[in-house]
Amino acid sequence: MQKIFDAYQRVGSLAKFYDAMLTNEGVVSRAAMKIFWGLDGDAYEKFLAQAFAGIPNDFNGRLLEVPVGTGVLSLPRWRELVGAEIFCVDLSDKMLAVAEARAVELNLRGKFFRGDVASLPFAEEFFDAVVSINGLHVFPNKAAALMEMRRVLKVGGIFCGCMYVAGLNRRTDLFVEKFCVPRGLFSPPFETFDSLQKKLRELFTRAEVTHVKSFAGFVCVK
Ligand SMILES: C[S@@+](CC[C@H](N)C(=O)[O-])C[C@H]1O[C@@H](n2cnc3c(N)ncnc32)[C@H](O)[C@@H]1O
Repeated sequence: MQKIFDAYQRVGSLAKFYDAMLTNEGVVSRAAMKIFWGLDGDAYEKFLAQAFAGIPNDFNGRLLEVPVGTGVLSLPRWRELVGAEIFCVDLSDKMLAVAEARAVELNLRGKFFRGDVASLPFAEEFFDAVVSINGLHVFPNKAAALMEMRRVLKVGGIFCGCMYVAGLNRRTDLFVEKFCVPRGLFSPPFETFDSLQKKLRELFTRAEVTHVKSFAGFVCVK
């Protein structure tokens, strides 16, 4: 946990670079997205669509996003959800500070909490939706994270997002193993597409799992 915390504190200090990478902006980011993640052109747009597929444009309940990171992908979308109550959690105060500043810039009234996904400061069945984008390949205790995100979700609520899964692209798997894991950016063991699908179908009443290159998207109903 400490290694991951330290890694994302460093990422938080390089937020501009991180945000450019995630948003596929500029030549370097687009090249990296293509080379390491296989997400070029259409695939990047599909990856984004898949990540947010579970949240309709007219969603107006209570939504938890964990981990919010810098909020670069999500906060502009949450701003469009007029009437939704947005709660965001992240372990790293540096990442969270960037997200909070972004929310102010966007005029988004969200609530931000520093915390661990495995021990969320919310009552059972508090949320109508829980969104986890690029989190489940990072969290060290994935089973506890899943149980906790499920705990705070109402029966009938939506759990959705995306994550890296192993075994779909050799180059991505090598990059994850040789670059992301040693730096504390990702934590093994990783799900495969099949193991993730099986796990989500055991935990939720319904679970639709898709993938774009090495990123699985999931939309589940508790
Ligand atoms: C790859 S970033 C994803 C952030 C954001 N969802 C995005 O796609 O930009 C992973 C985030 O997980 C956070 N994180 C790592 N372990 C965590 C934990 N146990 N509880 C909550 N957040 C955690 C890190 O601080 C980091 O901001």
